[in-house]
Amino acid sequence: MNGHFLLISSCTLFLQFFSELTTAAAGDTLIPTQFLSYNQTLVSSNKTFELGFFTPSNSDKWYLGIWYNKIPVHTVVWVANKDTPLYDSSGVLKIGNNGNLVLLNRMDSIIWSSTNHSAVVSNLVVCQLLDSGNLVVRYGNNNEPKSYIWQSFDYPSDTLFGGMKLGWDLKNGLNRHLTSWKSPSDPSPGIYTYEMDIRGSPQLVLRNGSVKLFRSGLWNGVRFIGTPELNNNPDFRPVFVSNDEEMYYKFDVENISVISRFILRPSGLLQRLTWNNRSQEWLVMLTVGNDQCDNYGLCGGYGTCNINNAPVCGCLQGFTPKSPQDYDQLNWSGGCIRRTPLSCNNRDGFRKFNALKLPDSSSSWVNKNMNLKDCEKLCLKNCSCTAYTNPDITGTMSSCVMWFGDLVDIRQLMAGRQSLYVRMAASELGMCYSAMPYHSLTSLSCSDMQLFLTFAQKSKI
Ligand SMILES: *[C@@H]1O[C@H](CO)[C@@H](O)[C@H](O)[C@H]1NC(C)=O
Ligand SMILES: *[C@@H]1O[C@H](CO)[C@@H](O)[C@H](O)[C@H]1NC(C)=O
Ligand SMILES: *[C@@H]1O[C@H](CO)[C@@H](O)[C@H](O)[C@H]1NC(C)=O
Ligand SMILES: *[C@@H]1O[C@H](CO)[C@@H](O)[C@H](O)[C@H]1NC(C)=O
Ligand SMILES: *[C@@H]1O[C@H](CO)[C@@H](O)[C@H](O)[C@H]1NC(C)=O
Ligand SMILES: *[C@@H]1O[C@H](CO)[C@@H](O)[C@H](O)[C@H]1NC(C)=O
Ligand SMILES: *[C@@H]1O[C@H](CO)[C@@H](O)[C@H](O)[C@H]1NC(C)=O
Ligand SMILES: *[C@@H]1O[C@H](CO)[C@@H](O)[C@H](O)[C@H]1NC(C)=O
Repeated sequence: MNGHFLLISSCTLFLQFFSELTTAAAGDTLIPTQFLSYNQTLVSSNKTFELGFFTPSNSDKWYLGIWYNKIPVHTVVWVANKDTPLYDSSGVLKIGNNGNLVLLNRMDSIIWSSTNHSAVVSNLVVCQLLDSGNLVVRYGNNNEPKSYIWQSFDYPSDTLFGGMKLGWDLKNGLNRHLTSWKSPSDPSPGIYTYEMDIRGSPQLVLRNGSVKLFRSGLWNGVRFIGTPELNNNPDFRPVFVSNDEEMYYKFDVENISVISRFILRPSGLLQRLTWNNRSQEWLVMLTVGNDQCDNYGLCGGYGTCNINNAPVCGCLQGFTPKSPQDYDQLNWSGGCIRRTPLSCNNRDGFRKFNALKLPDSSSSWVNKNMNLKDCEKLCLKNCSCTAYTNPDITGTMSSCVMWFGDLVDIRQLMAGRQSLYVRMAASELGMCYSAMPYHSLTSLSCSDMQLFLTFAQKSKI
């Protein structure tokens, strides 16, 4: 570090000084005596990612961003100055006086800054673009991720790629989530967000403003049920971490030649894309929002969505449409009600439903150290407890989730080992019930039902 550096206070002088005395920043690191302007970039050491200035298509504004370096289709995965574009190419990125990464415009005004942290010795700080795609500000002599002063992974844009966390740093109250761009030519925050809701049992939620559009379902020990993931893709390994300090989802890509990302489109579509090296284009692997059953709460309370049925909505066994006329006219918003009211004493019981996307758990109650039997007992004791389960299918976690109030946003899956135990009046729990569409069950008593089933079996209807 050279001594003159500290003596120069005027920003303009400062820049002149550097443009005369330093070469363009090269490699993956920016040091305090360097700066980056529109025609320079940082490239991560494996040449995977590149940081620099860009203008979105159909826009004449400039932004600082990160994109894939090895892909010919310019694909921006992170933007710094989303809200504060540069109106010409005169932007400059450098390490500011207090160790922040700062972006200056033509007037030398700071239009974006990495963060406001208390005094850091700025001449010891460097900024590095890592091969993971993470832009970090750190002390030059300290590579420890725990000691990073700032990192772009904490402030995602509309894209989640391998290694990035979607979720909470609980200690610092940091909620890392995706926000759509306003339009393909404007990276400023749009109305859609995709984030981890950590109330009750954690789940990933896609929102339009404050309105829920889609919900991932609960973590089953391997993945979030109902998220767009390829079950049998060994390259793509979902991870969920939950402890006192952090709660987040991420995915690891095991094969480094596979390039894959989630993007939240300006239209609200959440997609998973994978780069195809042969055809040289991004292939859409999955889209959330295309499937009718993805619509949050489509079938109403105690309704269940089955994409293979027509119509897709029905009531859980033991429930009947609240407004049969509306339900028959494919207006399912009123949902379903119990056929037999609860007695709210120990004579209630539970019916097990298999292979479900479990209901919205944002007002559920979780105990991570309670077995299923105790979970049932506790739920039975409290009349407002409507269901319980252990969402873990790996057999490694004894965990109890209890639901209070209506069960919303349930989906029947073709396969899946998560079950739900739903509170029922004792008289509902005879052996006579089988998986029948709601309308054939609504007015039959238990003995009628048995007769019907025998008849149905004999006459093969
Ligand atoms: C960047 O642009 C400046 C002025 O526009 C020019 O002097 C410089 O040579 C350019 N650098 C590179 C690496 O192209
Ligand atoms: C950073 O600090 C300055 C001065 O203390 C303050 O005006 C500004 O609002 C802060 N910015 C953020 C993003 O906290
Ligand atoms: C970077 O390259 C090295 C050597 O080729 C490799 O071992 C490493 O996995 C690569 N890292 C990333 C993040 O691609
Ligand atoms: C999101 O909400 C806006 C109005 O608030 C509406 O115009 C738009 O259609 C909604 N988008 C989706 C995907 O529901
Ligand atoms: C990694 O992915 C590439 C491209 O899809 C494929 O050709 C290669 O066989 C994969 N390697 C392994 C070890 O699976
Ligand atoms: C992509 O394809 C080119 C040839 O078309 C090949 O040279 C390159 O190694 C491939 N990259 C990967 C990651 O498979
Ligand atoms: C749909 O059903 C709900 C309640 O069942 C009712 O309040 C609403 O008016 C219905 N909407 C339409 C468009 O019929
Ligand atoms: C039942 O559970 C609800 C929600 O946790 C709680 O507010 C209520 O006090 C409980 N009632 C009893 C009798 O324990």
